[in-house]
Amino acid sequence: MTQAPIDRRSLIAGGMALAGAGAANARPTWPKGFLWGTAGAAYQVEGGNVASDVWVLEHLKPTLFKEPSGDADDVYNRVEGDLALAASLGFNCHRLSIEWSRIEPEPGQISFAAIAYYRRVLESCRRRGLAPVVTYNHYTVPRWFAAAGGFETPDGIGPFVRYCETVTRHMGDLIAVAATLNEPNVNALLHWVPTYRQFEPQLPKVRKAFAAGAGAPKWSSPIFGDFRVQQPIMLEAHKHAFDAIKTASGGRFPVGVTLALNDDQPAGPDSGLAAKRAQILTPWLEAPGDMVGVQTYTFDQVGPDMDLPPKPGADLTQMGYPYAPEALEAVIRTVASLTKRPIYVTENGVATDQDPRRVEFIRRAIAGVGRCAADGLDVRSYIHWSLLDNWEWTNGYGPKFGLVAVDRTTFERKPKPSAAYFGHIARTGRVPGHDTSTTNPGKR
Ligand code: BGC
Repeated sequence: MTQAPIDRRSLIAGGMALAGAGAANARPTWPKGFLWGTAGAAYQVEGGNVASDVWVLEHLKPTLFKEPSGDADDVYNRVEGDLALAASLGFNCHRLSIEWSRIEPEPGQISFAAIAYYRRVLESCRRRGLAPVVTYNHYTVPRWFAAAGGFETPDGIGPFVRYCETVTRHMGDLIAVAATLNEPNVNALLHWVPTYRQFEPQLPKVRKAFAAGAGAPKWSSPIFGDFRVQQPIMLEAHKHAFDAIKTASGGRFPVGVTLALNDDQPAGPDSGLAAKRAQILTPWLEAPGDMVGVQTYTFDQVGPDMDLPPKPGADLTQMGYPYAPEALEAVIRTVASLTKRPIYVTENGVATDQDPRRVEFIRRAIAGVGRCAADGLDVRSYIHWSLLDNWEWTNGYGPKFGLVAVDRTTFERKPKPSAAYFGHIARTGRVPGHDTSTTNPGKR
C-alpha cells in the first residue's frame, strides 16, 4: 500500500513548537505497562461491511446519514500497513473492534475466513508490539440481528453471548484487554443533549421508517435504540457475555465495557447531575467488569432535565461541542471516586481540520492523565481516537478525528504532525509543557 514517508524529526519539532515554545519537556511518572495507542472501530474504517445493520440504514431513501460509509478507509485490505504505521509512531497498543456481521453473516453461520482474518490482525498487532485492545461490539450488528429486534428484546441476549464466546474461543489467546460493548450508555447520554432531545420525539417515526425500509417489522438498530428498553437488556447481555468470555479465555485478560462520559458539571443548584449519572454511569459500574473504559470528548453543563447548549461564542469542535482537553482528567477523577476498578482511557480526541489544535488537545489531555497517575489513580492507558480520519456515523467523512489523513479515492495515508507528536509522548513518556509541580510521582 502507498504510505507517505514520515519525516519524524520535522514533525515532532513542528508539534512541539505548536504545543508551546519554551515549555519544559517534563516527564511525568507513568505506571509500568501503561498503554499508549490509537483506536478505530471496524465499521468506521474497514469498508464494505454490507452485512451490517447500519449499511441498510445508510442506503434508505431518505436516509439520516450524510453519506454512506462505502469503502471507509479500506482498512480491511490495508490493515498491515496501518499497524506498521502505528508501531513505527511508537505506540504499544491498538484498539480495534470485531465486526459481528463478518463473523456471523447469518444466524448461527460462522465465517471461518473472517475468524482467520481477525486472528491475522491480532497476530500482526502482537508481532509489532501492539497489545490488542478488542471491542466485541462497536455499535453495529448483523442485519439479521437488527431484524429480529436487536437489543430491544431479551431474545437478543443469547446470540450476542454466543458470538462473544465464539470470538473468545478462536482468538482469546491474542487479546490483551476486552470490552464487550462500546458505549452501551451512549443513547442515555444523548437523551441529555439538547439537540438530540429535540430530535427524540421523531424517533418512533424514524424507527418505523427503518423497519419499513428494511422490510423487517421488528428492526432495531442499537444506535437508534430506545435507551429505556435497550439499556437494561444490554446490561444483561454484557453480564452473560462477561461470564462467557471469562470462561472461554480462562480469565486471561481483563474484560469490561467502554463508556461515553463527558465531564458533567452542575449548571446550578437544581442540576439533574445525580439523575443523569444514575442513568448513564451507575448501572454500568454495578455490572460485572475487571476495568472501566473511559471515552471522553467534552464537558457538559447539566441543567435540571438536560444539558445546557454551549454558551454563545464557545470554542467548538467540528462536532459542535466545546473544545475541552481537560475534561478527560475530570472524568477519570470522577470514575475513580466511584469504583476501584482500573481505568483505561479507551477514547479521547478532537474533531478539527486544524492539526495544531489536535496537538494542543493531546498535550493538555495527556498532562491531565499524568496528574491522575501521579496522584495514584489506577489509570492504565491513553488511547486516542483515532489513528485515521474516518467515517463519523451520521456525519459522514466531515469531522476529522485522525492523526493520519486518508485520501478518499487512493486511500493514501498522510500522517499529520499530531501523529509524530503523540508518538513522541508514547515513546518517551515526556509531555512537552507538562507541569510536574502538580504531580506526585512515587505514590504508585
Ligand atoms: C465512538 C466512536 C466515534 C467517536 C467520535 C465515540 O463515542 O465510540 O465510534 O467515532 O466517539 O465521535
